Amino acid sequence: MRSFSSQQSTVICSLVWLLAALSVAHGDCNNALTTSFIKNQLSSLEKAINMLDNVSKCTCPCKDQVVFHAEMGSSKTYYGNSVWVYDKVVTNVGNAYNTSTGKFTAPTNGIYQFNWYTLSNPKVTSHPGLFVNGQIKARQAANNQGGTSQWLTTGSSMALPLKRGEEVYIMDVRGWKSQLRSQWTAFGGVLIN
Ligand SMILES: *[C@@H]1O[C@H](CO)[C@@H](O)[C@H](O)[C@H]1NC(C)=O
Ligand SMILES: *[C@@H]1O[C@H](CO)[C@@H](O)[C@H](O)[C@H]1NC(C)=O
Repeated sequence: MRSFSSQQSTVICSLVWLLAALSVAHGDCNNALTTSFIKNQLSSLEKAINMLDNVSKCTCPCKDQVVFHAEMGSSKTYYGNSVWVYDKVVTNVGNAYNTSTGKFTAPTNGIYQFNWYTLSNPKVTSHPGLFVNGQIKARQAANNQGGTSQWLTTGSSMALPLKRGEEVYIMDVRGWKSQLRSQWTAFGGVLIN
């Protein structure tokens, strides 16, 4: 027999007392049949608690874990309203990020946290915006007007509620030219709840 927490013991005791009281009400106290009935009930209860324990410890596969992070596998230049494709996946639990389109599709309604950072080479600019179904939600600028040895990184983060099926991606805020340095430019996100 496993050991129970005090809360679990209280529930079991209450049930045993309830069953005992019911038996007395029916006039068959100490009846062997009643004892075996209570034992059966206890055993099912034990199994139920064991199962709930497993669920709370998450030993079962957790279906709704969602987290991704992907970086630019090579340096890229984008023009116009093209979605930036972070093609080198670091992690993609839940497979909600598509490496060929650059889009993350919310697999479930919930609150999501996104982050993205961008490196501009010397004399190069980029203006990454976070979009949801064509609507801009956040923007940043990496206008690198510095000398030949100046590299510029910008980074941003945003939490927002999404409905199942909504698409999240990064592209230039106004369709300007963007030149992105590989590896140092990345996009990630996680389902918070
Ligand atoms: C709970 O998990 C343990 C350990 O993995 C396993 O032996 C047991 O069968 C599980 N119980 C139930 C009711 O799933
Ligand atoms: C990614 O998107 C493309 C184009 O819509 C689609 O053909 C492909 O099946 C998607 N990949 C995954 C893993 O969903």
